[in-house]
Amino acid sequence: MRKAVCPGSFDPVTNGHLDIIGRASRLFDEVVVAVLINKSKANLFTVDERIELIREAAREHSNVLVESSHGLLVDFCRARGIQAIVKGLRAVSDFDYELQMAQMNHSLAGVETLFMSTNPQYAFLSSSLVKEVATYGGDVSGLVPDLVLKQLRERLAQ
Ligand code: PNS
Repeated sequence: MRKAVCPGSFDPVTNGHLDIIGRASRLFDEVVVAVLINKSKANLFTVDERIELIREAAREHSNVLVESSHGLLVDFCRARGIQAIVKGLRAVSDFDYELQMAQMNHSLAGVETLFMSTNPQYAFLSSSLVKEVATYGGDVSGLVPDLVLKQLRERLAQ
């Protein structure tokens, strides 16, 4: 069985993430979306909320699972027999750090990283920008799933 992981913070998941997850689900038998727990980052949504939002938004893909992960990504991969990490690349500016992580993960555990070019429609999109724009009342509909949009508005209104 060919398995891949799509890792990230997903605070919150965007249509750019979902595009990569959906495309990966057509290439692999099983895709695990790993929501990384990073205590040093201030997040808008809890890990459980982020997992629920991704599960709902990706429910059309029957071979996609969503789980939390703490610690090293390669340990998560080893524990689940995952052979590949799938990452979206938006621009050259993403590449340096992504290459470094890919090489580190390969050297640690022989896990391969596959880079998928982001759909140009979402090339400018990031969770951080979505949060910033939404915080100041900007329109982010079309950039995130409807459920995320609703929860984002509710959370920011608090
Ligand atoms: O969405 P992000 O925050 O850009 O995702 C980065 C992430 C979570 C994929 C990366 O930081 C990661 O893999 N973290 C897990 C810890 C780990 O394995 N670190 C070593 C990377 S070589």
